[in-house]
Amino acid sequence: MDYLPIFLDVRGKKVIVDGGTTVAARRVERALSAGAVVHCFDPDPGEEVQTFLGHENLVHHARVPVEEDFEGCLVAWGASEEHDRDTLLFAAAKKHGALANVADEKDYCDFITPSVVERDPLTIAITTGGAAPVVARILRARVEAMLPASYGRLADFLSSYRERIADRIKGGTARRRFWENMIEGPVGDAFLAGDEALADELIRTDLSGDGAEKLHRGEVWLVGAGPGDPDLLTFKALRMMQHADVVLYDRLIGDGILDLVRRDAERINVGKQAGNHVLTQEETTALIVKLAKEGKRVLRLKGGDPFIFGRGGEELEDVAAHGIPVIVVPGITAAAGCGASAGIPLTHRAHAQAVAFVTAHGKDGLLPHDWTRLARHDQTVVVYMGLRFVADIAAAAMGQGVDASMPIAVIDNGTRTTQKVVVGTLADIGKRVAEAHLKGPALIVIGSVVTMRDELGIDVAARDDSHRMELTARSGL
Ligand SMILES: C[S@@+](CC[C@H](N)C(=O)[O-])C[C@H]1O[C@@H](n2cnc3c(N)ncnc32)[C@H](O)[C@@H]1O
Repeated sequence: MDYLPIFLDVRGKKVIVDGGTTVAARRVERALSAGAVVHCFDPDPGEEVQTFLGHENLVHHARVPVEEDFEGCLVAWGASEEHDRDTLLFAAAKKHGALANVADEKDYCDFITPSVVERDPLTIAITTGGAAPVVARILRARVEAMLPASYGRLADFLSSYRERIADRIKGGTARRRFWENMIEGPVGDAFLAGDEALADELIRTDLSGDGAEKLHRGEVWLVGAGPGDPDLLTFKALRMMQHADVVLYDRLIGDGILDLVRRDAERINVGKQAGNHVLTQEETTALIVKLAKEGKRVLRLKGGDPFIFGRGGEELEDVAAHGIPVIVVPGITAAAGCGASAGIPLTHRAHAQAVAFVTAHGKDGLLPHDWTRLARHDQTVVVYMGLRFVADIAAAAMGQGVDASMPIAVIDNGTRTTQKVVVGTLADIGKRVAEAHLKGPALIVIGSVVTMRDELGIDVAARDDSHRMELTARSGL
């Protein structure tokens, strides 16, 4: 981070805006709305600046500023687009201890003027540190679209309960939970739906009886994180990731997803590398129970969907046996994610009317599946955890009489920027996969839907598109 993000109190303080341009008008507007006394300098201000003339906190000087004007000034903005004026403004501001910012002149800036979303009293400021202001502006537009105007009023409404909440709920964690439950739960819903009376009643109920005690109780949240691309997280998963006290994750959690967890949440890697168990399943479950009993909100982040080959059921059995409350949040399972990003629809009226999810191996190794029943002409088979056994699976299927020309695809690191797809037939897939040096995790899709991949041509285009915003931001374009 190259800049310190702070919000300045400028109420009643002197702020200078030099210029009569559109940029100057935006600066005047922002400083006035923050309560500053704005001195605007320009002999001939444009129409937009003129709309502010007459404002009680605006002093217009129909000339360019001189050094003495900067005495007692807190912030000075240059927006004249004239080099001599910018130079004078920066030097004079420095001399009088004011913070200076000249539009588009990095060397004349003590601070950045961020893109701002205002839902008074809520203010969101966005910056790319000057690297790519367009990215900040695009993000601002997105945030604008996401935030209902009433969010600001919600902040105002809730602030009137501050003292009562502080009196009633002791302890930082419990208080934070209370606020989160209010904002993201029924209270916030009622208020944003326009029912202030109901919101008020709900807060009072929550503050009475055992409502407050419940806040000290631990919980377990079993959350699906999808197959790897952070954009495939659900809103609910993201919300819970930002509220958890501790997060347990393993190697199926794709890059970029953990970055979205609340900054001060504890993170524990229970790192299940194949054949290199950092924690056994039993140890993981015991740890979840222990943390929840300490009163923590424990989020177990699972790749894909927790209830599809995720051992979610097993983990919950033990947690439930200890009487700990549990919430399960589904995720996009690898089959759905990989199908989409590899351009293979799992069902298609001309190819498959059913789809079967199977795991290649169980506790005791490769499972003896009935491949003639599974790999039928009208059904797609998706095999999880089968990368190491692709050749064995193909051989077993052909040995049971499945046609050797049956199409098959192996999707490695599906939905991630490192995705690879190997396509072949039962007869040659073992050799092709060996040549491709796939790293896993990988998913096997068997059935004639695999031929749709060439017809749709989705693969690269779709992934490029979903990563475009992220790459643009990273490369600073
Ligand atoms: C223990 S299972 C977990 C499945 C997960 N619960 C789900 O719903 O996707 C792990 C297997 O899921 C598949 N898998 C998970 N993420 C994947 C990805 N990004 N690309 C390909 N396969 C993936 C692989 O077959 C991997 O061996």
